[in-house]
Amino acid sequence: MRQLSHLFANNRAWASRLQSEDPGFFSKLSRQQAPEYFWIGCSDSRVPATQITGLLPGEMFVHRNVANVVPPGDLNSSAALQFAVEVLKVRHIIVCGHYGCGGVRAVLQGLGLGLVDHWLKPVEEVRRKHEAQLLALGNEQAQLDRLCELNVIEQVVNVCQAPTVREAWARGQPLAVHGWIYSINDGLLRDLGLCVIAPDELPRV
Ligand code: CO
Repeated sequence: MRQLSHLFANNRAWASRLQSEDPGFFSKLSRQQAPEYFWIGCSDSRVPATQITGLLPGEMFVHRNVANVVPPGDLNSSAALQFAVEVLKVRHIIVCGHYGCGGVRAVLQGLGLGLVDHWLKPVEEVRRKHEAQLLALGNEQAQLDRLCELNVIEQVVNVCQAPTVREAWARGQPLAVHGWIYSINDGLLRDLGLCVIAPDELPRV
């Protein structure tokens, strides 16, 4: 109970495997962090950002929360965004949702989950904004899939409107914001076909 020794054993095996594949890997990494990507995804245990994209430590800066939301005024995601853009100077911000998201489902079903309800307010706003479109889909599975997609799109908009991103674009810093969705059923990522590289592209979204 007090000692998760299997996790430490896994960790030693993992570190020695990386070290044998690339001697000096960790000492190189300890000198600097220069990731090209900033991932904003769901906390869901089935969506491990670096594993599903095949990246190594040092290659992706990651922020995860329930239902991958980036509401204006959220200190946590705003700080991560600022650090990613201004300090690490990532080139790509990827907002990645996933089908079957429990947080999005809770909004759709109107479940009372206390504190989580409060956190999920931005998703509830997305649901309300697109209510007619969702209702027209009829069955609940289709509505859930679509709301997961719409939530990604709206969070991409939030990222693009964040002062950190606007200021970066105004400085001429190259920065692309992508909207993706991951399917737990087949392990595959899908590009939702929106990639914003300048503020004037936002109305199109
Ligand atoms: Co989720």
